[in-house]
Amino acid sequence: IPVDPFDLVIFGATGDLARRKILPGLFRRYLSGQMPAEAQILGAARSEMDDGAFRTMVREAIAEFDSTEHKPEELDAFLERVGYEAVDAKGTGGWDALRGRLRDDAVRAFYFSVAPSLFGDIAERLRTHGLATEATRIVVEKPFGKDLETAKALNATLAQHFDETQIYRIDHYLGKETVQNLMAVRFGNTLFEPLWNAQYVDHIQITVAETVGVGGRGGYYDTSGAMRDMVQNHLMQLLCLIAMEPPAKFEPDAVRDEKLKVIRALEPVEPYHIVRGQYDRDEEQPGYRAHVENPRSFTESFVAMKLHISNWRWAGTPFYIRTGKMLRARTSEIAVVFKDAPHSIFGAEAGRHRNVLAIRLQPNEGMTLDVTIKEPGPGGMRLLDVPLDMSFADAIGPEGADVPDAYERLIMDVIRGNQTLFMRGDEVEAAWAWTDPIIAGWTGRNDVPKLYDAGSSGPEDALMLMHRDGRRWREIKA
Ligand code: BG6
Repeated sequence: IPVDPFDLVIFGATGDLARRKILPGLFRRYLSGQMPAEAQILGAARSEMDDGAFRTMVREAIAEFDSTEHKPEELDAFLERVGYEAVDAKGTGGWDALRGRLRDDAVRAFYFSVAPSLFGDIAERLRTHGLATEATRIVVEKPFGKDLETAKALNATLAQHFDETQIYRIDHYLGKETVQNLMAVRFGNTLFEPLWNAQYVDHIQITVAETVGVGGRGGYYDTSGAMRDMVQNHLMQLLCLIAMEPPAKFEPDAVRDEKLKVIRALEPVEPYHIVRGQYDRDEEQPGYRAHVENPRSFTESFVAMKLHISNWRWAGTPFYIRTGKMLRARTSEIAVVFKDAPHSIFGAEAGRHRNVLAIRLQPNEGMTLDVTIKEPGPGGMRLLDVPLDMSFADAIGPEGADVPDAYERLIMDVIRGNQTLFMRGDEVEAAWAWTDPIIAGWTGRNDVPKLYDAGSSGPEDALMLMHRDGRRWREIKA
């Protein structure tokens, strides 16, 4: 669906996120015909630069980070919509000139791709220099605070200048195709929802495994760790979508109300239900502590935990979640493991068989449903679990596969004014309220993360977390 004419201003336009994700994403939306002729994209940052220099930067970013086939004229035409204005986030320079380039009859959005410490300064200047109108939207990136207190302060700062309906807090996991599919699968089928509760579900596992280390972001990461970087936001969002009650409508507040209830129903986590890990050095790489240049770091690059949601639907069904860097494969999946059949008519020798619905977020997005069948052949009634396997790419076909990446989709949702896939302020605060005591516990106990080998599935203790409940993690494989 094409969108209305818009002016999108990107603060921090010369930064990493803008070059890697935002600008190439906008170009792909242009190529797919989703951008109206009147769209204008303005970069804004501290450096002095004219439109031409910024266009060259965008051209280079697209060459580096986008592989979509296109003709040179297409890129030229896209760049005609791109401009630049230098602004001083803490002063007065550039703001009036920027305002002069905005049109009254276009959707107006400001993307804050800057450090959260600048959110307040920029929001204030948008007001005082008259750039913000009643219909203006602002987009803010994570990290949205580092604990409840800082998140509340950020929310309060933004609320001084903008209404909640104007604030789009990005969690890019919500823009992933399969994450939305989760809602389609749950609420578009009659098949699953009757079984989606503690009576039929033995447990749920969520894994987000990465093969990369902390890369060049050591400074940020070492003060954050996997808990703040991944669990408080991305894994929490996955948990909400898998556990929430059906919203009455697929509308922003209906969906976000249900997610919020899940977060509020999360029980505090027992320390022995948490395993923290840090990747060790080996012949090939110098290890986490060298990567973050902090030889005494106790920050976790891996975390696994067992969670309980205290409500009627889920009482008694544990949720096991884990995420980490430098693991065996880059794979993210959610697995719903159903209970055993109440009675086996085939006797004990038929063994234990379970239905598992696994939803793969990446790579190769798709779903498998393990069902139990008879092993073929004359050997009597022997049972076997086989997957009904569906890759979304195969099912929809390559022509249907113009699947926008998470950022592209979310930016277009901002332009359309649809907040469904963005976090509301109270949701972010509730997630921090649950996270804070866990982190405070580690700090208070001087908790030391367990070392794990690069290329493994994380520390041994994470396996034990499930083994002692008579359960096991699914394999981390590409
Ligand atoms: C980011 C984290 O939010 O998500 C990174 O800060 C992490 O540490 C990334 O690598 C993972 O995103 P994706 O889309 O590659 O799974």
